[in-house]
Amino acid sequence: MKNQTKPMITPTRSITKETEALLNQQIILEGQASAYYLSMASWCETQGYDTSGQFLYHHSEEERMHMLKLFKYINTAGGHALQPEMTSIKHTFKSLREVFDLTLDHEIAVTKSINNLVDHCFKTKDFATFNFLQWFVSEQREEETIARRAVELFDLIGEEGVGLFMIDQEIGKLEAYAAKVTQSN
Ligand code: FEO
Repeated sequence: MKNQTKPMITPTRSITKETEALLNQQIILEGQASAYYLSMASWCETQGYDTSGQFLYHHSEEERMHMLKLFKYINTAGGHALQPEMTSIKHTFKSLREVFDLTLDHEIAVTKSINNLVDHCFKTKDFATFNFLQWFVSEQREEETIARRAVELFDLIGEEGVGLFMIDQEIGKLEAYAAKVTQSN
């Protein structure tokens, strides 16, 4: 009897269902960040915190770009990226400080989620996704630095008198500050 060679199985996907689900979970966090920051930007604008508003509009766009990076990656790898539901968006805030406290909280949650995802990829030997995620690891370092500095400004400058006006001005310099700090590391 002739040796029968097995037919080649062509894989239709290069990420597992589990990794796909975790990446879609990450899409939810990035989408929420984009929506939260847009809502915060709008509130800041209505309160006269124009520089913070501009900073947050820009940040919202960046988060959308992060989400789209994940969309492209999942679909190119044979999965299906899912547009997340956006509900319970907070529209008003107690203070400018609350806006930046919430921003820092969300960035810390995003970093934790990215780290879990990286850990999962390493353990399952999905080195392509592991490699893809390194961009997010660096980006989160910068974003957390910015968010942490924003919160520090409230204690450094103080909110009395012209303090809030000065804090708002300083928020506009945060991206340059983070670039300098992360480059020198
Ligand atoms: Fe893309 Fe700031 O999380």
